[in-house]
Amino acid sequence: MTNEPVPGHLHGRVALITGGASGIGLATAQLLRSRGATVLVADVQSGSFHAISEAVGVECLQIDVVDRTAVQRLHDALAARHLAVDLLVNCAGIVQSPLSPDLLDSDVFQRTLAISLEGTFNMCAVFGSSMAKRGRGAVVNIASVAGMRSMPLHAYSPAKAGIISLTEGLAAEWGRSGVRVNTVSPGYTVTAALQSQIDAGLRDPEKLASNSALGRLIMPGDIAKAIAFLLSDEASMITGINLPVDAGWLVSGSWSTFGGVRESHVMPG
Ligand SMILES: NC(=O)c1ccc[n+]([C@@H]2O[C@H](COP(=O)([O-])OP(=O)(O)OC[C@H]3O[C@@H](n4cnc5c(N)ncnc54)[C@H](O)[C@@H]3O)[C@@H](O)[C@H]2O)c1
Repeated sequence: MTNEPVPGHLHGRVALITGGASGIGLATAQLLRSRGATVLVADVQSGSFHAISEAVGVECLQIDVVDRTAVQRLHDALAARHLAVDLLVNCAGIVQSPLSPDLLDSDVFQRTLAISLEGTFNMCAVFGSSMAKRGRGAVVNIASVAGMRSMPLHAYSPAKAGIISLTEGLAAEWGRSGVRVNTVSPGYTVTAALQSQIDAGLRDPEKLASNSALGRLIMPGDIAKAIAFLLSDEASMITGINLPVDAGWLVSGSWSTFGGVRESHVMPG
């Protein structure tokens, strides 16, 4: 037996996850911790911080990603403790209701873009720039398949498309500085946010699953695995990409013209 670290390990790395108190961010915090990283959860909601710290063994920090000054203060406070963030996951986001543009308030539009797009920019501008000065690091920004296809989400979709574009620019900006920047675009993932939309009758779980090639709903842990891969040295030659983790939703939509994707080819028995 050797003591060689297993591929994908994150020992010795400090990871910061925005939106880490819930859903995909929390699942990512758990996975990165299990792979050996020191994990910092940053979230605007502090109600579950104590329980998360106890259960997952991570430090929780309150931050509103929209507030660039607060983001800089967080960076400086960590630096004063000699905590340099090597891995950044930008998961903070809010959902919006599917509304026609005339019913979509300007403040909802602005808030959605502020948290998803400007928040991701703020975190990258502060923590990504710091990584670039140190010459190493990896960032994963969370967009969505909603940023890749037309949907009646006239604030959320543009915000997510903006994140995909931002990632490409930052990957080129910092590539020579040893910082990789990638996007993960989840499909419909069963988190509290989606569950509340299902409960309110705004999403049909049957349709969500049946519209994908694999015919299954995605769990937060499925997204976390893709994030962990892109953060790890296993992905050391990957930067600027957008990786959909969508159970094949993107490749199935156009099959509706032909009556939907094929039923299983598996022979009974
Ligand atoms: N669940 C899905 O089906 C799905 C699909 C595609 C993309 N996504 C994206 O994945 C990310 C996580 O989604 P989730 O489903 O886990 O949602 P979630 O609501 O469970 O988690 C989002 C977290 O972000 C935090 N947050 C909100 N505003 C913030 C702010 N201003 N500053 C700091 N933190 C803030 C919330 O407090 C919450 O803990 C989001 O960006 C979302 O758009 C989710």
